[in-house]
Amino acid sequence: MAYHKPQPGEDMRKIAIANQKGGSGKTTTSVNLAAALGEHRRVLVIDLDPQHSATAWFGLREPGKGLYGVFVENAGLSEVIQPTEVPGVDLAPSSPWLVGVERILSGEVGAEQILARHLAKLSPGAWDYVLMDCPPTLGILTINALAAAAEILVPVEAHVMALTGLAQLLHTVNVVKERINPDLRVSGILACRVDARTRHAREVVEQLREHNGNVVYQTVIRENIRLAECPSFAQPITKYDPRSSGAADYRSLAQEIIAQEKSS
Ligand SMILES: Nc1ncnc2c1ncn2[C@@H]1O[C@H](COP(=O)(O)OP(=O)(O)OP(=O)(O)O)[C@@H](O)[C@H]1O
Ligand SMILES: [Mg+2]
Repeated sequence: MAYHKPQPGEDMRKIAIANQKGGSGKTTTSVNLAAALGEHRRVLVIDLDPQHSATAWFGLREPGKGLYGVFVENAGLSEVIQPTEVPGVDLAPSSPWLVGVERILSGEVGAEQILARHLAKLSPGAWDYVLMDCPPTLGILTINALAAAAEILVPVEAHVMALTGLAQLLHTVNVVKERINPDLRVSGILACRVDARTRHAREVVEQLREHNGNVVYQTVIRENIRLAECPSFAQPITKYDPRSSGAADYRSLAQEIIAQEKSS
């Protein structure tokens, strides 16, 4: 049998973590899922949010201009990637410079595909997972993530109001599929900040499953104050409080995602 040489980017799972609704748990999920996956796999986090919360969370001392270099100054993606102190996790940092990208790239031909083209050039086999933390908008940076990803993970806050935004996001995913990335699929909707003591939260999770059953992760992320605390300590939950429910939930999600490898 002919030896199959892996092509650049071929065996990486590329997952956009997106929801245009602010505060739905995107960054909390990007950082802590990366840390939990990093216990078993090699992970690259791409911070696409000009608010650079994930970059700050990883506590990089010198993030520089980060992805601005890639989007605007023709730098290679591998030039901006840095190791983090979290085992198994590297980071392509964001910076406040990214605020300008939306305006600079508007109207530029092929601007939606910049990240996809760079991801395709990464060394084959360097990372098993690429997690893209998106900003709370459906602008050019989020579209770049959706164009570059094969999968989208949608964190939703377990609150009725959050469900209305989900329909809009799923519509955008369909438009991206039709126009630029036919391979994109929703690999999971993740209920976040679930307060299991309230009937309301339980009902929202039930409603999510009723409408999107096959793509809602079994794991739900419970409300856990430790998750809200750990960014201030520049640590993921697996380091900050490995025995917390937050660490247990993100490890459980990592296992569920690793189990999808067989079918993906
Ligand atoms: N399971 C949880 N338990 C407690 N607090 C949480 C949990 N998940 C997220 N939070 C808190 O909710 C807020 C919003 O979370 P996060 O920043 O992850 O959302 P986001 O979708 O990235 O927001 P943005 O749209 O602004 O980028 C943060 O203050 C975070 O600490
Ligand atoms: Mg965020």
